[in-house]
Amino acid sequence: MDEVTMIAEVRGIRDGWRRAGLEVALVPTMGYLHEGHLRLVDEAKRRADRVIASIFVNPLQFRPGEDLDRYPRDLPRDRALLESRGADLLFAPATREMYPAPAMVRVDPGALGTVYEGAVRPGHFAGVLTVVGKLFNQTGPDVAVFGQKDIQQVTLVTRMVRELDWPIEIVVVPTVREPDGLALSSRNVYLGPEDRRDAVGLSEALGAARSAWQAGGRRPAELETAMRERLAGRPRLAVDYIAIVGGESGEPLDEVDERTIVAVAARVGPTRLIDNITLGRGL
Ligand code: PAF
Repeated sequence: MDEVTMIAEVRGIRDGWRRAGLEVALVPTMGYLHEGHLRLVDEAKRRADRVIASIFVNPLQFRPGEDLDRYPRDLPRDRALLESRGADLLFAPATREMYPAPAMVRVDPGALGTVYEGAVRPGHFAGVLTVVGKLFNQTGPDVAVFGQKDIQQVTLVTRMVRELDWPIEIVVVPTVREPDGLALSSRNVYLGPEDRRDAVGLSEALGAARSAWQAGGRRPAELETAMRERLAGRPRLAVDYIAIVGGESGEPLDEVDERTIVAVAARVGPTRLIDNITLGRGL
């Protein structure tokens, strides 16, 4: 696996692959990789001839007081993991390469960027879409692979690509979970033992929504009630929101179906966790 840090270098390599008629996939990450990220690389390898993985902890998507400074980082370990899964190129730019001057321009995610995660983290999705747009322009992929765990990000990136006419296919890979159901996340390292025990409450609540749906519940309120009942058994979890939305639109619905996304966000101790399922696919 090659590794570059400069935009001109990644472009040069990508252009060479293009001239050779090879299709290119991008897996954008912020590093501190886990099995969830590595499944994105596996999928990227199935979809394209060459895989670029990027690692960049994007300051634009963190609010003041969030965990930008303590966000976990381990480049040597990430490098070895990417290599072991057959990524072809690691692009790991420094902040001064990505943002040589303070960023003035932002991609505006519109109304969907201001609800759910966007309401709790104002400006977050403008930061995400801006860096994802830059990474797309820098690496010129045919395909880009994202994890379902950040479902609102996936919906917004998909809409950005469609609305801005970028010829990039967005592929979504299911969430990878611990045996007890906890969704893998780089931020799980923040969980102390007690927090870790309660963190499983998110996937339990999603399971309750799915059971309610399987039992014939079709109104979002019925699913939400089932979730809140289950969450009541985990009083240390402070729920930020429950969202029951259309799989493509990301918008609330009157009636749920197998493509409906059920998402939950909660804080446990100092850590914020998010999780979601597609109803028809379950956990
Ligand atoms: O999902 C992430 O890790 C980040 O939001 C992304 C897509 C790499 C942009 O910084």
